[in-house]
Formats: sequence, structure tokens, C-alpha cells
Amino acid sequence: MEPRKIILDCDPGHDDAIAIMLAAKNPAIDLLGITVVAGNQTLDKTLVNTLNVCQFLDLDVPVYKGCGQPMIRDKQVIAPEIHGESGLDGPQFEALSRDPESQHAVNYIIDTLLASDGDVTVVTTGPMTNLAMAMRLCPDILPKIHEIVLMGGCYQLGNMTPAAEFNVLADADAAHVVFTSGRSITMVGLDVTRKVLCLPSIVERMGKNQTRAAKLFVDLMMFFNKTQKQVFGWDGGPLHDPVTIAYLLDPTVLTTKSCFTQIDIRSEQSYGRTNCDLFNIFKRPPNSFVAVDIDVAKFWDIIEMGIRAYA
Ligand code: BDR
Ligand code: CA
Repeated sequence: MEPRKIILDCDPGHDDAIAIMLAAKNPAIDLLGITVVAGNQTLDKTLVNTLNVCQFLDLDVPVYKGCGQPMIRDKQVIAPEIHGESGLDGPQFEALSRDPESQHAVNYIIDTLLASDGDVTVVTTGPMTNLAMAMRLCPDILPKIHEIVLMGGCYQLGNMTPAAEFNVLADADAAHVVFTSGRSITMVGLDVTRKVLCLPSIVERMGKNQTRAAKLFVDLMMFFNKTQKQVFGWDGGPLHDPVTIAYLLDPTVLTTKSCFTQIDIRSEQSYGRTNCDLFNIFKRPPNSFVAVDIDVAKFWDIIEMGIRAYA
């Protein structure tokens, strides 16, 4: 089977880094490019983090710098309480010798999609600013998007407010643009990612593999688990972002339900909420496949397979 072509749009971020690791060395995926957005930290930091991960793992994938602010809102939301001051605290990286490409991420997304046969999947694991900007700048890309698989949102409780998840809250207008684009969307939200907690036993299991990826995984998760404990009280942090890639590698890892999802961009209290009409109360045509369950054991097997690929 032909490898699946993807653009990975991310804001590393500990879990974004693992998503890159998982996507970059699997023969079933053709990682065309990585586009970077502000999110877990400011854009200058998320860009450096992406380059550091690629350099450490010796990945030959082009990296593009994207948007540093939300589409409309002045307020920028970052997450140093979870990801540290660098956005990727924990591992020590050597001096960076890799550069990003000169093209802007939004233009790269547009050009790549326009030149494609409609077979490129866009995976977002950060705020959706780059993808939404590309959609607004060049609507001709819409029919070219094979599928969008995104980590974001929740139909249960949020992690930034009781209503909202980080990636959607950070740029809810962008999420609104994506969810109203008419393209096929799979929403991997907190409802499932909170089931894959990277407990100490998982860190130990992955660490036994003795590859560069295993070292990166352990260094990242030791820090991530500390902050997750401080902020949420869990012994292991939810490994949100790699669930998107795991799903592309093996769709049976998730159970999804087709429904109409609307982003709250109006209210103060619930700003950034993904209102998933799972009971079909509004009787509106579905615009999303919302993940409602995950095969936890299968997920960790996929992660371990990804780590072993770096032998
Ligand atoms: C999402 O927010 C970020 O902090 C993580 O990288 C993930 O993409 C989870 O809400
Ligand atoms: Ca992320």
C-alpha cells in the first residue's frame, strides 16, 4: 500500500515531539513537512523545539515556521506550567545546526495541497491557526484536503477552563474555520487522550528499548509527568498528540462517532468549547468524527513500535 502523505502542524510541546517521532519513521506514513505554530510556547520557541527534535532523531523532514499569534484575538495563550519555559523542558539538546525552510508554513500548506492529487492528510496537534489561515487565503485548497485529523477539543471537561481544551481555546476562531470547512474531520479530544496516561510503568517499558527515541521519550516524560502531577494530580500525563498518528497507522485504535460539532467563539464562560452534538439534538448534518474511545493497550504498542524504529 502507498504510504499515507501527511503534513504535521504542531507546537512542540512534549506530546507533539512524540507525535513527530511516531510519524517520521513509519513506512506507512510519508511525512511531507512539519509546520510549526505558536501554542505551548511562543513561535520562536516551538520552532527551535521542532528543529531540536528533528536534529536529535536525525530526521530529514523540512520544517516551516508559521503563525505566531491567533487569527483574530490579541490574547495569546501558552502553557509553560505544563511544558516549561522552553516549551520542551527536560531533554538536553546539542547546539542546533538545522534551519527552517524559508517559505512560510501557510504558503507551504497551500502550495503542497494545490500540487497534490487530493491525497494529503493534514494533522494538527496545536492551535489550528496555520491551517485556518491557509483555508482563508486560498479556498481552492479545500477540495484538495484528503482528511483532517486533529488533536483538540473535548465533549467532557476541558483542561484550560471547565469548557475548553488548550488547542481550541488558544485560537477558537481558527478552529471555527476548520470545523466549518466542509472537509472530513476526525477530532481526537481529551475524552480519549486522557485515557492514555503515561504512567511510570509505561516510561520504564519504553526506556528499556535503548534507542535515541527511547531516550527522548524518557527525558520528555520525566518532566511532563512532574508538571501533570502538579497541575492535574495525575501520576502520568495524557499523551494527547500522538493519538492522531496512532490512529492513522491503525484506525482501529479509536472508536469514533459521526456528529455535528460547533466551536463556541461567542460566550465568555465557555469560549473555545467544542460542542459535539453526540445525541443529534440539533439535527444538523455531521461535520466531524469525534473520538469516543481508545484501545489503550494497542496505543502503547504503537508507541513502542515507533520507538523501536529508531534502532
Ligand atoms: C494539547 O495542548 C497542548 O498542551 C498539548 O501539546 C496538546 O496538543 C492538549 O490539550
Ligand atoms: Ca500540541
